[in-house]
Amino acid sequence: MATVEDIVTSTSISDEDILPLSYLFRSYSEMPKLEQKALDLSQGNVLDVGCGAGSHSLYLQEKGLKIKAIDISKGAIEVCKQRGINNSEVKNILDETSTFDTILLLMNGTGVFEDLATMPRYLKHLKQILNPNGQILIDSSDIKYMYEEEDGSYWIDANANYYGELDYYISYKGEDEIPFKMLYLDFDTLKVACETVGLQCEMILEGEHFDYLARITLV
Ligand SMILES: C[S@@+](CC[C@H](N)C(=O)[O-])C[C@H]1O[C@@H](n2cnc3c(N)ncnc32)[C@H](O)[C@@H]1O
Repeated sequence: MATVEDIVTSTSISDEDILPLSYLFRSYSEMPKLEQKALDLSQGNVLDVGCGAGSHSLYLQEKGLKIKAIDISKGAIEVCKQRGINNSEVKNILDETSTFDTILLLMNGTGVFEDLATMPRYLKHLKQILNPNGQILIDSSDIKYMYEEEDGSYWIDANANYYGELDYYISYKGEDEIPFKMLYLDFDTLKVACETVGLQCEMILEGEHFDYLARITLV
């Protein structure tokens, strides 16, 4: 049962789910292992893309790293500022022009790419703002399991779009946000997409439920 403070989410292939608001304010010890690993690997000057309430940025800032947190949501950046993140800005990643040693995209980071057709544009841009020897740390999940039938077979329409392309719906305190596209990517598809734009992609860590953390670097 949702409380007023919970965020209610649903997608084009799944029913309503509850995301407790407190999850967006998680501390390092409350984060999934994949996110902890990404923070442990972060170095140099760091860009936190789609920072949300800024939990990853806050942890790295307190650790002494130089961080910049960006999000397209004005509300998210207001929260980041209230939490004391020094360098946070309302900005679309496609408008970012500074360069970075580490670029973080976390909590299904591939979601920012919207869908398969727009993904190359994002990857090419990320490539442009990555310093030599820099790294992009990104997490996602292979959501093929969501199409599994009771007999263990998968019901995936071969004529439909890629199965990880979802429409995402959010409501908070009874108000519906404008639906947006969310891309969940299996590792192999991400790797091929990276290679297509001259980036290389390696698996860093696999989670317990088809989720993973990948590192993307210049070739
Ligand atoms: C799933 S949330 C993740 C929030 C945060 N990284 C966390 O782990 O708590 C994704 C965030 O990305 C932001 N976002 C989506 N597209 C973006 C874009 N093109 N540029 C910057 N931020 C974007 C959304 O506003 C949202 O806050």
